[in-house]
Amino acid sequence: GLLDQKMKAKGKRYFGTALDAWHLSGSDQSNIKMIAGADFGAITHENSLKWDAVQPQQGNYQFGNADAVVNWATSNNRLLRGHTLVWHSQLPQWVHNINSASQLTQVIQNHINTVMGRYRGRIYAWDVVNEVFEENGTFRNSVFYRLLGENFIDIAFRAARNADPNAKLYINDYNLDGPGPKIDAMIALIGRLRSRGVPIDGVGTQAHLILGQVGGVQSQLQRLAGTGLDVAITELDIRIQTPVTAQKLDQQYSDYQTVTRACLNVPRCVGISVWGISDKHSWVDSTFPSYDAPLLWDDWFNRKNAYWGVDNAL
Ligand code: XIL
Repeated sequence: GLLDQKMKAKGKRYFGTALDAWHLSGSDQSNIKMIAGADFGAITHENSLKWDAVQPQQGNYQFGNADAVVNWATSNNRLLRGHTLVWHSQLPQWVHNINSASQLTQVIQNHINTVMGRYRGRIYAWDVVNEVFEENGTFRNSVFYRLLGENFIDIAFRAARNADPNAKLYINDYNLDGPGPKIDAMIALIGRLRSRGVPIDGVGTQAHLILGQVGGVQSQLQRLAGTGLDVAITELDIRIQTPVTAQKLDQQYSDYQTVTRACLNVPRCVGISVWGISDKHSWVDSTFPSYDAPLLWDDWFNRKNAYWGVDNAL
């Protein structure tokens, strides 16, 4: 692909995007397949590998949509990033309801074994745990942390290494784009995990950014790389407060350029994934109603200035 090829020419592993099965079968599938085929070398499931999608009831696994994305990516020779195994969100009620530490440990191990085992050798990297921190750097109050403390992270990574010894294992979070207690806590946690011998290979920074607020990305990426792990920008988008104007779309060109350069300038940064192809399908519309137009293609699948910002940085 174009952006992907250029990333590889710069010594990186991929330029990727998020996709789900419905993108590949819905009314925009021809645009999506054409763009994904041309520009993207790595695919992340946007939703269909999450716990509520693959194990909605205990022991009842549903892999249809996840398989469709894996099959498309595999037959088109793309890398896959597996997203995500242990996360407090999009987690079915039956897991929230567990109240014994030993039972929860088994449930985590079974889930990871089954999901990673199914795709062993086909998914290059996994977000093993996602969003474990609050903004102030304390652990999020999930069922995992309540019953197991920090040890839930060790349990998840050890199960993951066991399920697919060749997969790169990542911890992933958002708001690691500027200094503060959250990134400090992440760096400290990685240090503890490594000193305990927990198998971890990378740290993902989601990079759900706001227009004009991208200046800290490179220095924080460098700090994350200073842990000794690989780093990846895993869910990049740069949302614009409405109304979207021509001037803001120009600013978006330079913001995407800045973020792309940040990865190029940090040797341990392995790649960038954007969180979708077209603004038409972005999660930003429903999640941040006063923001819009965060991606590289517009609602009609035309390349935006933002696209050329990435291209120009490469
Ligand atoms: C989002 C998806 O894009 C939405 O479609 C879904 O409704 C909610 O989740 N951090 C993550 C991603 O790790 O999994 C989230 O994806 C966006 C924030």
